[in-house]
Amino acid sequence: MSDLSTLLLLLIMPPFLAADPDCSQRPDITSLKNCCRLPYLNLTSYNSQCGQYLVNGAHITPCSFECIFTAAKVLNGTSLITENVEKMLLPMLDSQEFVQVYVDGFNYCSGQEQAMVKSLKRRRMPTVGKCSSMAVMYGLCSHRYVYRNCPDSIWSKTAGCNDAREFSIHCEDKLTG
Ligand SMILES: *[C@@H]1O[C@H](CO)[C@@H](O)[C@H](O)[C@H]1NC(C)=O
Ligand SMILES: *[C@@H]1O[C@H](CO)[C@@H](O)[C@H](O)[C@H]1NC(C)=O
Repeated sequence: MSDLSTLLLLLIMPPFLAADPDCSQRPDITSLKNCCRLPYLNLTSYNSQCGQYLVNGAHITPCSFECIFTAAKVLNGTSLITENVEKMLLPMLDSQEFVQVYVDGFNYCSGQEQAMVKSLKRRRMPTVGKCSSMAVMYGLCSHRYVYRNCPDSIWSKTAGCNDAREFSIHCEDKLTG
């Protein structure tokens, strides 16, 4: 768990961007989560295979992510098998609009594979094998993509939200920011 805490902390931490004047004024980025009300992820269909990792709503562990990715045949080593991503998502989301934006996110994140591998190796975190962090990385990367490309129908169109999104898109690291 300490590895995971480190990973989450690194993903949440702002990058150091003192040189860029546009990015020096960091808005309340945590509000981004409240700006885009993501739908409930229904993991029921993975209960039989991954139920042991899906207890008490604590879904964000390397094992739970990897278990679902493996069950859905979405991960081959460190590579995403992007053709299977939609099939993994369909039972989790009841809106086709969300399935599509997540699929787009996973496709985008697939292009970040080498950067993710490098980042995990630098932190001495496993990239393959039982409970590697690769599936978590793809999960968090796609979440971030969805926040940045939040469907209009659920985006809170407040100035604060728009600022937070602009900051996230222009000032944060494309992969981990
Ligand atoms: C989750 O999906 C299952 C079918 O896979 C369904 O029976 C259940 O009602 C869904 N739960 C919610 C809260 O939507
Ligand atoms: C997994 O990757 C290896 C090469 O790294 C490839 O030979 C194999 O066909 C891939 N399997 C699937 C199911 O895509």
